Amino acid sequence: MTQFIEISFLSENYDQACQLRNEILRQPLGLDLREEDLSAEADYFHFGILEGSRVIACGLAIPVSAVKAKIRQMAVAGAFQNQGIGKKLLYNIEASLQQRGFELLELDARATAVGFYQKLGYEKVGEEFQSVSIPHQRMRKSLKKSLQE
Ligand SMILES: CC(C)(COP(=O)(O)OP(=O)(O)OC[C@H]1O[C@@H](n2cnc3c(N)ncnc32)[C@H](O)[C@@H]1OP(=O)(O)O)[C@@H](O)C(=O)NCCC(=O)NCCS
Repeated sequence: MTQFIEISFLSENYDQACQLRNEILRQPLGLDLREEDLSAEADYFHFGILEGSRVIACGLAIPVSAVKAKIRQMAVAGAFQNQGIGKKLLYNIEASLQQRGFELLELDARATAVGFYQKLGYEKVGEEFQSVSIPHQRMRKSLKKSLQE
């Protein structure tokens, strides 16, 4: 059984999420999340999926305006990828942000993950670009449409 949770900044679950982000998103690029200044993350919304007491997936949302938020740092632990966990996490993040009044979500997908976001209803915006040394694609989804799409 897995469970969607909202994560408080600097909580035990936030520490676990940071370890997961480091392992899945930073270390493969030769980077270390612990060297980054994360103080601005106090103002972000943090989310995760728990299995027991272990955070096996995480993501965060940055409020850009009253109606627009940016999704970042989506990561699913290696042993749990391709089992519907990322989909469960993102759908629940969307529902949570919709409840808070957000109407438009934006994200910069790694090119390797574009297909995942397309399956969840995100559309490409503009051309591919380089960021943290790898190709990315800006994508958007309106929350005014059905979340089932
Ligand atoms: C990308 C990621 C978040 C997806 O989460 P996941 O739990 O593995 O994906 P799910 O099992 O929920 O997949 C949902 C659907 O998307 C598809 N999918 C998953 N990853 C995909 C990918 N990289 N490319 C294309 N399709 C993908 C699945 O096949 C599934 O399709 P289905 O509904 O038809 O069966 C996860 O694999 C991950 O953390 N990858 C490494 C880090 C990364 O790239 N993060 C995103 C940075 S923008």
